[in-house]
Amino acid sequence: MTPPTPDLIPAPRSVGTPSPDGPLLDAGTVLWAGPGTGTTERALRATLGAAFGLALPPGPADTPGAVRLLVDDTLPPEGYRLTTRAADGVEIRGGDPAGVFWGAQTLRQLLGPHAFRRAPVAPGGPPRLPELTVEDAPRFRWRGVMLDVARHFMPKDGVLRHLDLMAAHKLNVFHFHLTDDQGWRVEIERWPKLTATGSWRARTKFGHRASPLWEEKPHGGFYTQDDIREIVAYAAERHITVVPEIDVPGHSQAAISAYPELGNTDVIDTASLSVWDSWGVSPNVLAPTDNTLRFYEGVFEELLGLFPSEFVHIGGDECPKDQWRRSPAAQARITELGLGDEDGLQSWFVRHFDTWLADRGRRLIGWDEILEGGLAPGATVSSWRGYAGGIAAARSGHDVVMCPEQHVYLDHRQDGGADEPVPIGYVRTLEDVYRFEPVPPQLTPEEARHVLGTQANLWTEVMENPARVDYQAFPRLVALAEVAWSALPAPAERDFDGFERRMTAHYRRLDALGVGYRPPTGPAPWQRRPGVLGRPIEGAPPNR
Ligand code: ACM
Repeated sequence: MTPPTPDLIPAPRSVGTPSPDGPLLDAGTVLWAGPGTGTTERALRATLGAAFGLALPPGPADTPGAVRLLVDDTLPPEGYRLTTRAADGVEIRGGDPAGVFWGAQTLRQLLGPHAFRRAPVAPGGPPRLPELTVEDAPRFRWRGVMLDVARHFMPKDGVLRHLDLMAAHKLNVFHFHLTDDQGWRVEIERWPKLTATGSWRARTKFGHRASPLWEEKPHGGFYTQDDIREIVAYAAERHITVVPEIDVPGHSQAAISAYPELGNTDVIDTASLSVWDSWGVSPNVLAPTDNTLRFYEGVFEELLGLFPSEFVHIGGDECPKDQWRRSPAAQARITELGLGDEDGLQSWFVRHFDTWLADRGRRLIGWDEILEGGLAPGATVSSWRGYAGGIAAARSGHDVVMCPEQHVYLDHRQDGGADEPVPIGYVRTLEDVYRFEPVPPQLTPEEARHVLGTQANLWTEVMENPARVDYQAFPRLVALAEVAWSALPAPAERDFDGFERRMTAHYRRLDALGVGYRPPTGPAPWQRRPGVLGRPIEGAPPNR
């Protein structure tokens, strides 16, 4: 009999030659969970309990056929060894609790697509496991996804589901883009108007900004602090860190509409501003005043109480300097502090929060514009306008997360065809994402160590609901997960055909999870948005 091919995604480091007749989990299977493996114990009972009705009651480690979980610190961080033996049951050893958890995700994939359902659909319980040994560990420690919940709000249930989907793909950093010109999504108790006023808009542009269409109904929503605590704890239970982003000093029109004194009041009538209902880069940016600094220190103080993450993202991208050029107050600040110009002013603003966060034991991360005017000493860079910002940052000894828009902006269209819904940006196919390399060849090995990893970014201007987010994210996020986790060869040598073959099995898992991915043959009729204008970038044709 041909050995079963497990079709694991992301591809593990090694799978010992599998043979078909491994253990069978059934009603009698007990679960022994060693110290530090509680998250995986709960996850296995919850997922396999729901999918197959397996109770997995606790039992001694030496029970024949048991599932055993243990931490073994001779294995690498987040690494694991999964062993399945007919005579001996299942053992998952992890280098740390996260490693055990990732090993359990592999076990779930070995149990077939029904393991991803929330109630049993097939009689007879799970299929017999193959007999094998999987040895595995991640390439990068930062395997992320950024979700923009400001342009279109993702209700809490959708965020929790998104975390489940991340966990199933061994992704471990959820970058939560909580504020922008079009909405403020996190409750700040000392500044209640941020959500009372800033969390909704009266209408919304439908399509890219050149589209003449509007959705003439209010759009909004926000997470209470208890919602945030729930999201953070739910993520932690899945070994996912939530990195919050509060975007300053640009992308701040929602905050200014709630508290007009935050804007450049000597240039425009900020009291007449409302939460923005269209797309692009708003010229309405924060005033570089002490009042603004104190206001945002208050915001970040509450945020630090909610998010234990080492990193806190302060945005820093796309801050048009026109209002600062025209503002006597901003110009006086530049002169007073000897900052030279408006770039210096932005840099001063970012440095303030770099020091403020460092004093509280946290690390600042920002988009690569924070390089302009000089990088703050402790800053880490999200390199989005290509590789250049990340290369410059790594060369000067700063850490980097590689997420260039030319490669891993999943809001960009995934095919050049006319049926893509609201097509924007570059064509980036599943294969393009699979061949994305986070570490540019220009870096020396020592510089390359500053590349913490990579993330995909999901901006939601043209994703008006969670189904649209599913469509843009999947299947490409699966390829990104493999790029971030697996030890793949150089881009040209990657076995995309093999990945596509494994995707055949993985689509069945995504079906069971209820993910509205883009089918390989193109969008289903209900996934199209005929007549809604996008903004394809010319000169970026499909390259396959
Ligand atoms: C960005 O895409 N403005 C970071």
